[in-house]
Amino acid sequence: MFGKRSTSDTHAGAAPPPPAAAPRPSTAAPAPAPKADRAPAPLPSSGLGAPLISPSTGPVNAGPRGTNPMIQATDTRRSESYYETKGTIFGALIEAIDLAQLARLDADAAREEIRDIVNEIIAIKNIVMSISEQEELLDDICNDVLGYGPLEPLLARDDIADIMVNGSGTVYIEVAGKIAKTGIRFRDNQQLLNICQRIVSQIGRRVDESSPICDARLPDGSRVNAIVPPLAIDGPALTIRKFKKDKLTLDQLVKFGTITPQGADILQIVGRSRVNTIVSGGTGSGKTTLLNCLTRYIDDDERIITCEDAAELQLQQPHVVRLETRPPNLEGEGQITMRDLVKNCLRMRPERIIVGEVRGPEAFDLLQAMNTGHDGSMGTLHANSPREALSRMESMITMGGYSLPSRTIREMICSSVDVVVQAARLRDGSRRITHITEVLGMEGEVIITQDLFVYEIVGEDANGNLIGRHRSTGIGRPRFWDRARYYGEHNRLAAALDSAENAENAISA
Ligand SMILES: Nc1ncnc2c1ncn2[C@@H]1O[C@H](COP(=O)(O)OP(=O)(O)O)[C@@H](O)[C@H]1O
Ligand SMILES: [Mg+2]
Repeated sequence: MFGKRSTSDTHAGAAPPPPAAAPRPSTAAPAPAPKADRAPAPLPSSGLGAPLISPSTGPVNAGPRGTNPMIQATDTRRSESYYETKGTIFGALIEAIDLAQLARLDADAAREEIRDIVNEIIAIKNIVMSISEQEELLDDICNDVLGYGPLEPLLARDDIADIMVNGSGTVYIEVAGKIAKTGIRFRDNQQLLNICQRIVSQIGRRVDESSPICDARLPDGSRVNAIVPPLAIDGPALTIRKFKKDKLTLDQLVKFGTITPQGADILQIVGRSRVNTIVSGGTGSGKTTLLNCLTRYIDDDERIITCEDAAELQLQQPHVVRLETRPPNLEGEGQITMRDLVKNCLRMRPERIIVGEVRGPEAFDLLQAMNTGHDGSMGTLHANSPREALSRMESMITMGGYSLPSRTIREMICSSVDVVVQAARLRDGSRRITHITEVLGMEGEVIITQDLFVYEIVGEDANGNLIGRHRSTGIGRPRFWDRARYYGEHNRLAAALDSAENAENAISA
């Protein structure tokens, strides 16, 4: 039944050619605009210390395959004398201005106000500085007073995926899939702690010795985790997953070599034809990006409800309700879990439910949803292979306290999940879709799966970049064939599978 399509197969006969599910242009970004006062990075200075990491190395959204953006992982730091001078001026400034009043000004006016006072302090204290040094210092101070201090130049860059602060002296970033150390540092752990505090206070939380762990979000949508002493031994650790204003599209993933054009076609069909899908992968492997791509092909007239820990998905459809979990408040009350959201979703007459990240017992509710007429529901989860994704679901349900026999849970997974898409970040920093795998059914106690596409690593070039290829497994009629046919996508599906297989034959010939 799942064998190769024979040439005499006339499945493509009667139905009209399917409408191409063209991606919609990504115009309206629902995310709030970044802070207006986010200044460009300070200009490099010759006098006061070494330049910071360049504010715009490399192209935005550069793929691992493209012109590899130069990562200036310079470990140069500003000199001690810079921090001394800045400390002096900063101290005098804080005494001179009324911070509460400053907060009422808009960003430009506040900056002007600070500029005037800083210039005055420099004059009074007889500090010798060039104009460019003064400008740099002013930017630096404004960032401290109005924004996120030394993090500002990093936050302003769109090519950075993650910012990782390990105490005041060490800041790493991830650019183009590679982690690199920057020259950014904080004056001391107190300054870093103050910035952590400023970030989390925006969502009404605090982070200090008595409450040392906190998740928060920047106004631009970036996700933040702060963990501070005594739990973090060497000073506050701050991790920021930058919000990408322009999410990657399937076309871009094809350009980066993350997936072949045929594979991308199949994913489009999966998205449109209401195939229940799990996106699996490690941290930062591109799961959310992929889920976002899949959602672009959902028809405009469907009612979609999304559940996320921090809203990252950017659905383009008009009929979307976005839900977000809530951590407990300072008294440890008021938490709304993912499970609460997904359960509530079912009472909201959804046609599809999209769960940003399945981590726990909500796996059960998502499966229920997939099983009860909410076809085309999707979610991501953390696993290293499609098989592992399925067994992770099983253990999430078991650990959620459902006393169901494992066979029952597996049967439930089988009857709910249609396709698992596996994402991976390879050791050379490139991101690949390594599997598009179908769940077929049970054989005894075991879930049977079938790969449609796999990625194989065949070698490594002189620069340490992995060489690999996407391989079609020659499956002609996937299990979701009828579903694709129902949505008029079967011709396109056949074409994509054929073309993938022909490419395969051409290689092996
Ligand atoms: N195929 C890809 N090629 C290049 N960069 C990618 C790709 N997929 C994702 N990214 C980037 O990697 C970072 C992490 O992606 P994300 O989808 O949030 O990962 P996850 O949800 O698995 O943690 C983001 O900055 C994203 O833009
Ligand atoms: Mg994610």
